[in-house]
Amino acid sequence: MKLLLLGSGGREHALAWKISQSPKIEKLFIAPGNAGTAGVGENVSLKADDFEGIKTFVLENGIDMVVVGPEDPLVKGIYDYFKNDAKLNAIPVIGPSKQGAVLEGSKDFAKGFMQRHNIPTAAYRTFDGTSVEEGLKFLETLEAPYVLKADGLCAGKGVLILPTLEEAKKELKEMLNGMFGNASAQVVIEEFLSGIECSVFVLTDGKHYTILPEAKDYKRIGEGDKGLNTGGMGSVSPVPFADKEWMQKVEDRIIRPTVEGLAEEGIDYKGFIFFGLINVKGNPMVIEYNVRMGDPETESVMLRIKSDLVELFEGVAAGNLDEKTLEIDERSAVCVMLVSGGYPEAYKKGYPISGIDQVENSIVFHAGTAMKDGQVVTNGGRVIAVSSYGKDKAEALAQSFAQAQKITYTDKYFRSDIGADL
Ligand code: AMP
Ligand code: GLY
Repeated sequence: MKLLLLGSGGREHALAWKISQSPKIEKLFIAPGNAGTAGVGENVSLKADDFEGIKTFVLENGIDMVVVGPEDPLVKGIYDYFKNDAKLNAIPVIGPSKQGAVLEGSKDFAKGFMQRHNIPTAAYRTFDGTSVEEGLKFLETLEAPYVLKADGLCAGKGVLILPTLEEAKKELKEMLNGMFGNASAQVVIEEFLSGIECSVFVLTDGKHYTILPEAKDYKRIGEGDKGLNTGGMGSVSPVPFADKEWMQKVEDRIIRPTVEGLAEEGIDYKGFIFFGLINVKGNPMVIEYNVRMGDPETESVMLRIKSDLVELFEGVAAGNLDEKTLEIDERSAVCVMLVSGGYPEAYKKGYPISGIDQVENSIVFHAGTAMKDGQVVTNGGRVIAVSSYGKDKAEALAQSFAQAQKITYTDKYFRSDIGADL
C-alpha cells in the first residue's frame, strides 16, 4: 500500500516510524514532514492543508490511504473534501469529518455534546459579545481559580486559568473583545477541576473502538510543572493511576458514550479520538477532546503498540475494527523533549545539532528540525524527542535522560523531572 501521512512534527515522525514498520507498506510519503521523517519515508513538499495540492499528489502517485496527523486539515474538512470528490472518494482518510472535528474546533460544541450524552465534565456556561455582563455575573458565582476557554482553535493558547475574580473579569472582557480574534468570539467559563491529568486515545471506525495505550504529558516549560505552557515537554506511558478499574470507568462513562453519541448525532467519525482526562477523586472527567493523536504522547504511545498500525487503520476505513487485534507492549515507554533555549517565548533557529548518531537504544523523533547544507539544524521550539523503553518508568527515563545528554546544540534545554510526579 502507498500511504500519505500529513503533518511535520514529532507526532508525525513517531506515526511514520510505526507505519513504516508495517509489511503492508510499499511506500510511505509524509507531507511536509521534517528531517526525521525523511529517514523512514519520503517527504513531499506540500502543506498539510493544501487540499488541491494533496489531491494532485494522491492521484499522480496512486496513494491508497491518507492519515492525518494534526487537527488543522481535519477542522478545515479534508475528510469531506475526499468524500465529496468523485476521483478521491474511494481513498480512505484516517481522521474525522469536518463535523466530527468540531469536537476539538469548538469548546462550546464539545461541552454541549458531553452534556447531551451525560459524559462527566466540568460545569460550564458559554458567553459572547452580547452577554458580557452575564458572563461577569456568572464569574461571581464561581470560586477561584477561574477557567476561561476561547471557543475556537488557538494553537493551545486559548485556555486561561486565573487566580482572582478581578483578573478573570478583565481577561473575559479582553477575550470577548478579540484577544484571540474570532476564536474567542465565544468564551466557555467552567468550573476548575483539581486532579492529575491523563491522555487516553482510541481509534474508532464510527461504531467500534480500540483503546490505545494511555499517556501523561508534561505541558509546562519548567521543572515542577512551573512556568509557561508549551506544546509538551515529555510523556510517559503507561500512567500508574490509570489502572484496570479506572480505565473501565473511562470506557463506560466516557469512551462508549462518546462513540455512541457521535453515531446518534449522525457524525461521520473514522479516526483517532484523544480524551484529555483528569482524575478527580478516582473518577475520570473530560477536560477536552482532540480529534488526533497527542504530541508528545504519540512519541511514547507508538512504542507500546506491537500490532500493525496500518492493519488497524484498514479496520477503521472498512468499519470492521472489531475484527482487528491490538497487542500492547507491557514495557514502559517515555519521551523527553529537547527544546530551544527561550521557548515557548522567543528563540533562535538554525543551530547545528550533533550527537544524534551517538544515541544508543533510544529512538530519536524529530519535532522541529530541518536539513541545511547536509546538516540537521534546529528549526522550532520543540526540537527532538528522545523516546525509550524500560522495564518500568524509572528505567525508561534514565535511558532517555542519558541519551538526551549526547545530543548537543546551542541553548538546548529539557526537563529532567518528566514522570517524577507519578
Ligand atoms: P486545554 O487546552 O483544554 O487542554 O486546556 C489546557 C490545560 O488547562 C489543560 O491541560 C488543563 O491542565 C487545564 N484545564 C483546562 N480546563 C480545566 C478545568 N476545568 N479545571 C482545571 N484545569 C483545567
Ligand atoms: N499533548 C497535548 C496535545 O497534543 O494537545
